[in-house]
Formats: sequence, structure tokens, C-alpha cells
Amino acid sequence: MPARGKLITFEGLDGSGKSTQLDKLARSLRAHGLSVTVTREPGGTTTGERIREVLLHSATAGLSPLTEMALMFASRAQHIHEVILPALAEGRIVLCDRYTDSTEAYQGGGRKLGTKPVLQLHEILCGNLQPDLTILLDNEVAFSVERARRRNRKHKGGRSERDENRFEQENRAFFGRVRHAYLAIAAREPNRVHVVNARGTPAETHAVIMELVRKKLKI
Ligand code: TYD
Repeated sequence: MPARGKLITFEGLDGSGKSTQLDKLARSLRAHGLSVTVTREPGGTTTGERIREVLLHSATAGLSPLTEMALMFASRAQHIHEVILPALAEGRIVLCDRYTDSTEAYQGGGRKLGTKPVLQLHEILCGNLQPDLTILLDNEVAFSVERARRRNRKHKGGRSERDENRFEQENRAFFGRVRHAYLAIAAREPNRVHVVNARGTPAETHAVIMELVRKKLKI
């Protein structure tokens, strides 16, 4: 039986450059001959992508914060069952764009539900499955939000429609709470969560992340 794989999660505000960095890391690890699974939340499975549509669509109205949190975890429970655990059992490296820290930051912090229910649901619905490493891309709220808006405008003019999602329509204060909650998680779990300054160029940030991954996972 192969050794259990590794779970690496990427976290950060909308527009923090997570997706770019996740792609770069996947490419580098594959170039080293490693088996990599790239996935995301909410989503990552057929059921999860349907839940994602409800959660992110700007036309979804009146969703209560508790419903939002429950749907995030419903997507995650299916994702763990269908994708993450099987990939880890095969010895693969799983790179996941967002995981439970997003729920703690956005629903716990942003929507003010607090940390406790998120950690409790994580225990019940996710069997407390923790990432081996979490990369938190950190930047000023104004910078990240502006980048997300620019990206959406660009996509709208191009082929793929990229609407501003329900979260991206939130205000500065909301994202301030999200960032604060993220930094609190990093302070609480310094062995797992590494804060990476996201103000550099994509290549600079990638070099920092590669070094972290190499050291932490001994690869
Ligand atoms: P996405 O388009 O993937 O954003 P990004 O590319 O910036 O990561 O949208 C995911 C959105 O869902 C994002 O705004 C954060 C939010 N979210 C939560 O609020 N809670 C969660 O548990 C997760 C996984 C995501």
C-alpha cells in the first residue's frame, strides 16, 4: 500500500492570487514526477459543483448565514468522501483551493457566526481531517478586492462569463473581518498554517511557496 499522500490547502481573500499559485505549484510538483490532484471548494464533485452554483450565484437571495455554512460543509463532506480521501489513500498530493479555514474566515468571521460552530461541524462532518500544510496568501483588503474586481471585468468582456459572485459583492468591513479571522487561525496553528505575503510578483510568491512545500513535506 502506498504511503498516505499529503493535503495542501490554499487560503486567502478573493483576488489574493490563490488559483495562480495553486496552478504553478501543481506544475512544479508534476515536473518532479509527483502525482498531484487539483481540486477546489465549494465544489470538486458533481454534487459539490451544484451546491457551489447555489452558494456563489449573485441571483441567490436571502440565504441565511447558517444555511450558507451548512452548504459549505455539505459540499466539503462529499468532497472528502469522493475525492480527497481516495486520492490520499493512493499516495497523491492533493492541492485544494479553499477548505475549512475559508468557512471559519468567511462564515465564522465575515458572517459573524464565530469559530466554535465551524470547528464543531468540521469534527462531525469532516472527521476532523486536517491539511498537512495550509498556505495563506495574505494581502491588504483593498488590494485583493480590487484585483478580484479587475479579473471579473476582464472575464465579462471576454469569452467566459465571470460574474461577481455573492461574496465578492460584500463590503470592505466584511473582508476586514475575513482577513482578521484568517490571521487568527494562523496565530493559533502556526505549524500548519503559513502566511505568505501576496504582494510580490507571481514568480516571487511561487518561489516562497516551493521552499515551504519542500521543507514541510520533505520533497
Ligand atoms: P471563488 O470564485 O472560488 O473565489 P476565489 O477564486 O477568490 O477563491 O469563490 C469562492 C467563494 O466562496 C469565495 O468568495 C469564498 C467563499 N467561501 C466561503 O465563504 N466559505 C467557504 O467555506 C468556502 C470554501 C468558500
